[in-house]
Amino acid sequence: MDLNTIKQAAGKLMIDRRVHIDREKGGAYYHGERVAGTVLILRNIVVPEDCSYDDILTVASWFHDIGKGIEPHNVYGAVLAKEALREYCSPKEVDEIAGLIELHCERCPQSNDYTAWVKLLQDADLIDHFGTFTIWMDFLHSSFEEKSIEQTFTYDEAEWEKHCQKYRNLLNYDVSKSIIDDKINFINEFYARFRVEGRGGIYKF
Ligand SMILES: [Fe+2]
Ligand SMILES: [Fe+2]
Repeated sequence: MDLNTIKQAAGKLMIDRRVHIDREKGGAYYHGERVAGTVLILRNIVVPEDCSYDDILTVASWFHDIGKGIEPHNVYGAVLAKEALREYCSPKEVDEIAGLIELHCERCPQSNDYTAWVKLLQDADLIDHFGTFTIWMDFLHSSFEEKSIEQTFTYDEAEWEKHCQKYRNLLNYDVSKSIIDDKINFINEFYARFRVEGRGGIYKF
């Protein structure tokens, strides 16, 4: 597989698309790029001895949300990716990539039915929704909704806790859980500071 050519193809299909009105143009493409980075970091930790799927994981990450906006986007995305990748990959590679895309959000950490490759992509995808990205999304959303700073840092903290717990429980690997815990701590710390500075205070002063 020629990864450079495939990445260009992914860009052509996704970089000008806006999947949600309150998200940036090309969001699914940039998210795919980040997931591709994270999935290889996780693979190196979880399956350090086997890099044979790195290219498949990379391409699957780039294309995994190509169906975003039309649900079930994993099923629709697998079909779209098959079509897009036919000229760049062997039939076996296309099937493997489409298979990963189809399962990327069918999370079931208790199940033994999934390969490590599926689980790695699922975790990398989820991990990207937390951390600095959460703040980026919150700010884009606030701007779209014309919210004030006060309205941005005021949210239901119990709900947020529940949200974090829910997604943490969907992760397959302990390393993913520790990554997400660190990201959640960062978000909480950021908003704690934002609430102080947003009202003219000096944080920890
Ligand atoms: Fe997705
Ligand atoms: Fe995703």
